[in-house]
Amino acid sequence: MAKKKILIINGPNLNLLGKREPEIYGNQSFEDYYKMLKKKFPNLSLKYFQSNHEGEILDKLHKIGFSYNGIVLNGGAFTHTSIAIADAIAAITTPVIEVHISNVHARETFRHHSYFSEHCAGIIVGMGLKGYELALRFWD
Ligand code: DQA
Repeated sequence: MAKKKILIINGPNLNLLGKREPEIYGNQSFEDYYKMLKKKFPNLSLKYFQSNHEGEILDKLHKIGFSYNGIVLNGGAFTHTSIAIADAIAAITTPVIEVHISNVHARETFRHHSYFSEHCAGIIVGMGLKGYELALRFWD
């Protein structure tokens, strides 16, 4: 059987994981964590995309959102601002799992609302980088 195609999308500032506010987001870079993920999920065809640009994330969702089996999306701050990305999640047929490394509900009130959640198959927050792993297990 063909491997399920899953794309992890990280939004703005998540390229700085490991350097950025380590007390909130930890010390590990996503590149290192991703190497471990690839080994841990040999049965999935896993790809990774990071962008700081809303339009690039929209283009990626449009491009793969009718053919991939799943998307793990950490939209970073766009989660709380982007109706355009929310509309794209609603438009595509690939199920999306929303992930946040930190517990957004225990932080500033502007982080409590997600435009994405109502269009997502599931949501994982506050489990650190492990949240990506928990999301991937849905398709493994
Ligand atoms: C985040 C939470 C967002 O509020 C924040 O803007 C981020 C990271 C998280 O993974 O905890 O950039 O999505």
